[in-house]
Amino acid sequence: MRMVDLIERKRDGKELTEEQIHFIIKGYTEGSIPDYQMSALTMAIFFRGMTENERATLTMAMVESGDQIDLSEIEGIKVDKHSTGGVGDTTTLVLGPLVAAVGVPVAKMSGRGLGHTGGTIDKLEAVEGFHVEIDKSEFIDLVNKNKVAVIGQSGNLTPADKKLYALRDVTATVNSIPLIASSIMSKKIAAGADAIVLDVKTGAGAFMKTLDDSRELASAMVRIGNNVGRQTMAVISDMSQPLGFAIGNALEVKEAIDTLRGQGPEDLTELCLTLGSHMVFLAKKASSLSEARELLEKAIQDGSALEAFKTFLKSQGGDPSVVDDPTKLPQAKYKIELESKEAGYVSNIVADEIGTAAMLLGAGRATKESEIDLAVGLVLNKKIGDQVQVGESMVTIYSNFEDVTEVREKLYANISVSSEKVDAPILIHEEITK
Ligand code: URA
Ligand code: CA
Repeated sequence: MRMVDLIERKRDGKELTEEQIHFIIKGYTEGSIPDYQMSALTMAIFFRGMTENERATLTMAMVESGDQIDLSEIEGIKVDKHSTGGVGDTTTLVLGPLVAAVGVPVAKMSGRGLGHTGGTIDKLEAVEGFHVEIDKSEFIDLVNKNKVAVIGQSGNLTPADKKLYALRDVTATVNSIPLIASSIMSKKIAAGADAIVLDVKTGAGAFMKTLDDSRELASAMVRIGNNVGRQTMAVISDMSQPLGFAIGNALEVKEAIDTLRGQGPEDLTELCLTLGSHMVFLAKKASSLSEARELLEKAIQDGSALEAFKTFLKSQGGDPSVVDDPTKLPQAKYKIELESKEAGYVSNIVADEIGTAAMLLGAGRATKESEIDLAVGLVLNKKIGDQVQVGESMVTIYSNFEDVTEVREKLYANISVSSEKVDAPILIHEEITK
């Protein structure tokens, strides 16, 4: 088999066979196929697309390019939730303990964040003592005992995807639906998920800015999952404005605690209940979505979700007393209000720009090497559709430096107030199950 013939095939719009795709991924991972040939192929894929069979095969070829996590010693159906990324997306922090409280095993492998705010691990490390450096057997024991544990990324997972993603990044081929879908799905499958709930974000703060593109990506991933024997569904949710109120690591931990207590922001609570219901249903802990939702609502009301969060923190070295006293979380030196200059209704809060403002405060990493400040970030006091008076605070800025002029300017430029009444954006656009 020669790579040049396979590039030609794809260039001319013909389907690649299973054997050919495995040859390509194996050769590229090992280094026998050079970057220049792989970039020609990805550009051909960008223009020609991939069939459903090709997508499933590519996904599994990437899964098989490296280690696969074996979670078979964990009892029950392991459901993983994946978000395509947004601003102030506190859902993972809430969902872990929430679904664990109703008996769904959550064996989460997570990473650090790049961009807006930290990743799940960064956020959890805002809790004094919490750590994810546990070995595999301890991880499995914890999930069996508490139903939830988080471990840092270890092992050589999907090396083909790592190499390919880096290549796509510099050859203008990131934005290809089949390549994005197989990239994301290969990582979830290699991490050992039996079933997968996808939260595909749409809007300014999302990877996919339009509903059409988000739907296409969601549907591509759902089909890949189901075609390779992992029950998969997707929710398309709004990311035109940040989710919830808090953007920043310790601030989001506090927001998660509030939400587990039943006192969280409405949008975050609703999205967690929706995603959580699907997780509980796929894990076969309820026979319908409405029954699943009732179980989750009960876990919030009777305090078992909050208790599951405490147990989870404590089991991984964290101080569980932050749950009852969130002032024990890292605190910023300055608290500065961003007052509205106009009266009316908030009509836009541009999510990605607000995320960048939080990053300027130090809540996120500009490069992999940057240190993040766990205490800082933003809390929105108004969301789209809310009424606001002149002088009323729209955002509270939590900073460790006094001069926040640049952050204020960015916030003013990206929060609009209209004199006419504005509706809140739709939170959940669609649910895709096949
Ligand atoms: N995220 C991924 O993991 N892969 C892609 O290709 C794009 C976004
Ligand atoms: Ca949030």
